[in-house]
Amino acid sequence: MITLGIETSCDETSVALLKEDEVLINLISSQDIHNLYGGVVPELSSRAHLQIIMPLLNKALSDTNINLKEIDLITATAGPGLIGALLVGLTFAKGLAYSTDKPLVPVNHIEGHIFSGFLVNPKPEFPYLCLVVSGGHTLLLLVESDIAIKKIGTTIDDAAGEAFDKVSKLLGLGYPGGPLIQKAAEGQEHNLTEFPIAQTKNEFDFSFSGLKTSVLRFVQKEYNSSENIPIEDQKKIAASFQYAAIKALVLNCKRALNKYPVKSISIVGGVAANKLLKDEMEILAKRFKVSFVVPSLEYCGDNAAMIAYRGRKINQSGKRYDYSFNAFPKLKDHTFISSF
Ligand code: KG4
Ligand code: ZN
Repeated sequence: MITLGIETSCDETSVALLKEDEVLINLISSQDIHNLYGGVVPELSSRAHLQIIMPLLNKALSDTNINLKEIDLITATAGPGLIGALLVGLTFAKGLAYSTDKPLVPVNHIEGHIFSGFLVNPKPEFPYLCLVVSGGHTLLLLVESDIAIKKIGTTIDDAAGEAFDKVSKLLGLGYPGGPLIQKAAEGQEHNLTEFPIAQTKNEFDFSFSGLKTSVLRFVQKEYNSSENIPIEDQKKIAASFQYAAIKALVLNCKRALNKYPVKSISIVGGVAANKLLKDEMEILAKRFKVSFVVPSLEYCGDNAAMIAYRGRKINQSGKRYDYSFNAFPKLKDHTFISSF
């Protein structure tokens, strides 16, 4: 069975083909245009998806020697994400499904991330804790099965990736912030200053807006403006921020491991590419004697392989959709299981 996956929720256009659960190809085209603006410009994102999606599909088909008619199932991200960007991919998928008379499965982007650990080996074992850390979401979940996902923590303000992006902009490092902060922090001590870890009412929730403000205040106090920060200090601030942000994520995972008897812990989403987070989580998992699963780099960020994988599982569950399914920009709690 061949499954086509289409992902266009933000600034990556991605097309993937799966044969059963095996990824045959996972093409990702990142939109560099946003680097000029220090963040994603929604209108530019929609236009760029529109331009690249057809050539990307053609390349995926020709590289794998697969004919459009051989595709058995079409899956596409329906939300959450930028509405214009989502509409490009979902409408494209609807057109393909209609013209080839193949079933269409609209996929929740976050569900795609949650199960992206199943694209690598070893895979997570149920029940597992899943830390979703992306540009738009920070969630701590108890994943009991393909259909039973309990939210135990979330951010009460900024997402983890958003904090990396905002602090990177503030330090004048550029966009996207995560990889740039990680690079700047490489080999640096994190003791230039100690940034705070927020306390939240629910011990599993996160808060990153105070951390971002602390970095801003520190920069204003010590250097007046970000343009005056010496390169060496810029690197040390990046390291101190990264340390505090990762510590906050790991702390809540530790609390959750103390409470929930799980077999694995998995980190997914763009921030799961962070080396310090991976190292710290691996140590934590060893201490609690659970397996640790982090997808390979190409499956951490936005990609269509995870959408195809999740869409295939939904299709196997017997759930069917018609073409009236709409794109949804915001994550609603019930969308975790409403796919079934
Ligand atoms: O999952 P993703 O590709 O897109 C969303 O669904 O949001 O996540 C993108 C986020 C961005 O905020 C980016 O700065 C962050 O992931 N990111 C990182 C790293 N690589 C990407 N954050 C920290 N360290 C990294 N190495
Ligand atoms: Zn994502």
